[in-house]
Amino acid sequence: MIDAPAERRLLIRDLAQVVTAPGTAAPLRGSDLRDVSVVEDAFVLCAGPSIEAVGRMRDLGRLGGDLVEVDGRGCAAMPGLVDCHTHACFAGDRAAEFGLRAGGASYEELHAAGGGILSTVRATRAAGEEALRDAVRRHRGWMLRFGTTTVEAKSGYGLDRETELASLRALRANAAVPTWLGAHAVPPEFDDADGYLDFALAEVLPEAARLAEAADVFVEHGAFDVEQARRYLTACRDHGLRLRLHGDQFNELGAVPLAVELGARSVDHLEATTDEGVRALAGSDVVGVLLPASALFLGRPMPPARALVDAGAAVALATDFNPGSAYCESLPLVCSLAATQLRMTPEEALNACTVNAAHVLGRAERVGRLAAGYAADCVVIDAPDWRHLAYHLGGDVIGCVVQGGEIAWQR
Ligand code: NIG
Ligand code: FE
Repeated sequence: MIDAPAERRLLIRDLAQVVTAPGTAAPLRGSDLRDVSVVEDAFVLCAGPSIEAVGRMRDLGRLGGDLVEVDGRGCAAMPGLVDCHTHACFAGDRAAEFGLRAGGASYEELHAAGGGILSTVRATRAAGEEALRDAVRRHRGWMLRFGTTTVEAKSGYGLDRETELASLRALRANAAVPTWLGAHAVPPEFDDADGYLDFALAEVLPEAARLAEAADVFVEHGAFDVEQARRYLTACRDHGLRLRLHGDQFNELGAVPLAVELGARSVDHLEATTDEGVRALAGSDVVGVLLPASALFLGRPMPPARALVDAGAAVALATDFNPGSAYCESLPLVCSLAATQLRMTPEEALNACTVNAAHVLGRAERVGRLAAGYAADCVVIDAPDWRHLAYHLGGDVIGCVVQGGEIAWQR
């Protein structure tokens, strides 16, 4: 009999499978990214906010104390999913723009005409902090229902002091890992990017650095060039923030070498990355965060995932949830896209949105695996084979989501 701890325990029993990356290493790269351990006829035992044990049913002793049981027959369990790149703090929507794009307008044209990101900036500035908190809570609820138990989310739709700081507070209030995307676009009250950065670094960064864990910049024509990104990121690093970049989404402008030079945690998108960028990432500690839902939503080429993994680069997968380029909160759908469009195996996809995504967020020691001592975050899918997570395209696969040892969502 396992000694009864003081905390309430949650037992998910009689599972057809439990799947997780073995070991403790992060990030996983090369052939290690394919490595998963699958235990059949298994259980997951949570004690309070942590996992106490994972194993075969036949090895489960008698349990006393305060115990809640979940019937896992016919189901597979895996670590709670980690979405390491979202823009969940915004007001309004871009449904009208979506219609225009379907009719032939490009994302870059809409952006250059003052629509796109700047139209969401107008709605977000007008919303007020309480409405932003509510919006993040709503978006967070959508993600949870698709198995996301840890989410990073960026500011970047305020671009003034008040709204950027309100956005970061709204993210923290909803337990999202907050990133200051202070360099997302140049707002209309500034004539140029340098003038805007003078303001952002002097007036917003000191307080943003107290609220955020990381900083992010959009390196692209019409947003920020490499020199401006270097200045922004260096100042953010000096304030203790981890560094991330939106790079090579439309044009390969040098975001990858800059990320490597500055020791950034990640460079995200990479749809336009060529062989040189692949080689540079493979020889570095920078994680390439792949966002296939965004490429799909904008009708863009997919990032060179297979080349990156085969060259030994560390990659993660995320939704990029936002109102313009990826109105998609589903990591299971992203795993389907990874398997069908990026030529990643289901194993690689799972590790990319658990272990490696947790590493991007500096949390790989606590989340992303189902093993004793990790956070009790767990997804149970309604299928006996865990690969249905990616296999069931757009499917309603999630049966139950456990977060911090509590049932947070159940079918
Ligand atoms: O990651 N490319 C820049 N930022 C977001 C899109 C933001 C928006 O369109 O509102 C992205 O795709
Ligand atoms: Fe993004």
